[in-house]
Parts: sequence; structure tokens; C-alpha cells
Amino acid sequence: MSAARAIRRIGVLTGGGDCPGLNAALRAVTKTAINEHGMSVVGFKDGYEGLVENKYRELSYDDVSGILERGGTILGSSNKADPFHYPVKKGDGIAFLDLSERALKNARRRGVRALVCIGGDGTLSTAERLEQKGLPCIGIPKTIDNDLRGTDFTFGFDSALRTATEAIDKIHTTAESHHRVMVIEVMGRYVGWLALCSGIAGGGDVILIPEIPYRIKVICDLVKARHRKGRRFSIVVVSEGARAAGGKMVVARMVSDSPDPVRLGGIGRVLADEIEKKTGLETRVTILGHLQRGGGPTPFDRILATRFGVEAVRLAAEGESGRMVGIRGEKIVSVPIHNAIERRRSVPRNSPLIRAARAVGSCFGI
Ligand code: F6P
Repeated sequence: MSAARAIRRIGVLTGGGDCPGLNAALRAVTKTAINEHGMSVVGFKDGYEGLVENKYRELSYDDVSGILERGGTILGSSNKADPFHYPVKKGDGIAFLDLSERALKNARRRGVRALVCIGGDGTLSTAERLEQKGLPCIGIPKTIDNDLRGTDFTFGFDSALRTATEAIDKIHTTAESHHRVMVIEVMGRYVGWLALCSGIAGGGDVILIPEIPYRIKVICDLVKARHRKGRRFSIVVVSEGARAAGGKMVVARMVSDSPDPVRLGGIGRVLADEIEKKTGLETRVTILGHLQRGGGPTPFDRILATRFGVEAVRLAAEGESGRMVGIRGEKIVSVPIHNAIERRRSVPRNSPLIRAARAVGSCFGI
């Protein structure tokens, strides 16, 4: 019997921050496993928490019918549950324990021969470690941040980009009416893809990303110059991870029971206050926050998540493991998970996107 035939049952989970397209991926994984490979599928609930706590549900063909366009994930997700660094209550505080053996045991008890892990860098790092401990894992890249290597796009990004662009369009009209400076803070953690692309798509006058620390004077001079020329409003798109040259990222909160505790946010407010003080122009801020992660996926993300799901199951069926699926141009590919997560995919300073934005007059604050 070939390795391909030996695998009769796979597990699947969605980990990390949610994004549009997760249900499309779950649907693709489950339908492909059942239709094409005669496998059964078990879904672990709330990311790796389900694997550690033995929370799961069988996924049938009917369970995943009608969920393609739905936002969120029918399995639930968690960005706190790393089996190797698992938060447990201890007295008044939290202790982190290595419960990976328990996770592996639960996977074995459920008869899982391969686990499809749908997530971002955190989820995929854990997948790699589980793989090293003997549980074959295949990764599917999702995140609105688009910060994984080994793929041109993660699913979720295009949907978040649509939401952010629509928001900027709406803010544009009210900015014009009231002759205001409007600062729009978008997500993206340590990389600027979402700010850069929504900034270009929404015609941002200023686009600030973590990869290019800004100078407030440059921004204020530009806003004032626009005003003098009769363009009495300005749109500033700022990534939550942006910072002034020589300054620090603005942290919104620390999440004590998360292995990755830093939550960014608040740079928009800081920037708006500074611009108003230094230019004398009325300035407002809008923080898009989790709106960007909610709602249904765009057609692009539905197709991408579907193609990723189909390929992930094909790899599992062929006995492959430790790989993440991705897209390069038109082609679906796969790379070792390790290559995808060893470094974040940031916006290169010489990115053609930055050149295009500059050519149409967007300023990056330097
Ligand atoms: O990684 C996805 C992301 O939405 C980031 O853009 C953001 O910084 C973070 O997750 C927010 O996390 P949480 O949902 O825990 O607030």
C-alpha cells in the first residue's frame, strides 16, 4: 500500500487571528478530503486549544456546505494556545507549560494521520514543532498582514484591503467637505502591506509603514503645502506598526496569557494630535481595527483559500509533511514551513509599489 493510500483521516484547525476566507479553506479541505481521497476529517476547535483540550468535531460534507462566503471560522480560533507554551491558571497568575505531548496524544486518539494547520506565523511555527515531534503537518497561510514568505499572497489580505480601501474612500468625502486632515490607522502589525496597498488604492496623500520610519516635519510640511495650493484636506494612512524616526512603536496593550503578548495600536491618535498641533489644521483619526478582519472574503480570497485547501490535502494524501502551500504568480506551490516563517516578509524599501505610490504624489514621511 502506498503512503497516499495509507492516510484515511486528517485533522484540521484554524489558529491565530481570524480573517475572511477561513471557512472557504475549511470547506475546500473537507470536500477535497472526502471527494478526492476518501478520507474523513476531524476539526479541532479554537486552534491548538482544541488539540490540547481534546475539543473537536467531525466535519462532514454537509457541515461545510454553504460556508464559502461566510466570515470567521466555524471551528473558532485562538492566538493564545501554543501547545509548547500553553497558558494555565496558577494562583492569581498564569503559568506557561509544555503540553505538546498531550496535543500529540489527542491527535493520535482521534486517528489523525496528518494535520492541516491554517494560520499565520505563530500557527505555522507550532505546526513545524509538532511535525518535528512526529505529527505530520501541512500549513495553509492566512493573515490580513500578508507577512509570510514562500507565497505571493496569504488569504485574508485581499478582503482586509477591500475593507480598508472602502473606508478610506468614505473618509475622503467627509475630509473634503470639512477641509480636515484625516488619519486612518490600519492593521498589519510589523509590516506595511495593508497600509501601503490601501494607501495606494485609496489615494492616500501620506502613507506611513513600519519599514520606513517617518519625520513628522515632512508630513506637516506636505499637509500645509496642500492647504496653500487649495487642496484643503489630506488623507494620512498609517500602519499600526509605524513609528517616527528614532521613536518607538505604539503599544495598545499587553495580553498576559498570550505567547505573543504585544498588541499594537494608537499611533493614529498620536499622529493626529501632532499634526493638528504643528499645522493648526483640524485633524481627526479613525482606527479601523477588527473591522478589517470581519465579514466575508472577496472572490480573490475565496479562490485562493479554495486552491490552498485542495493542494494541502493533496500533499497530505501523498504523504508529504512539513510543507506550507503558497501561490507564485498563477501557480500553486509548496515550500518547507521553515522557509515561510524564518523571517517576516516586509515591504522592501525599493518595492515597485512604493515607487508607484511616490510617482502619483504619495509621501512616506521622509
Ligand atoms: O495578525 C493579524 C492581526 O490582525 C494584526 O494585524 C493585529 O496587530 C493583530 O492581529 C491583532 O490581534 P488581536 O485580535 O489579538 O487584537
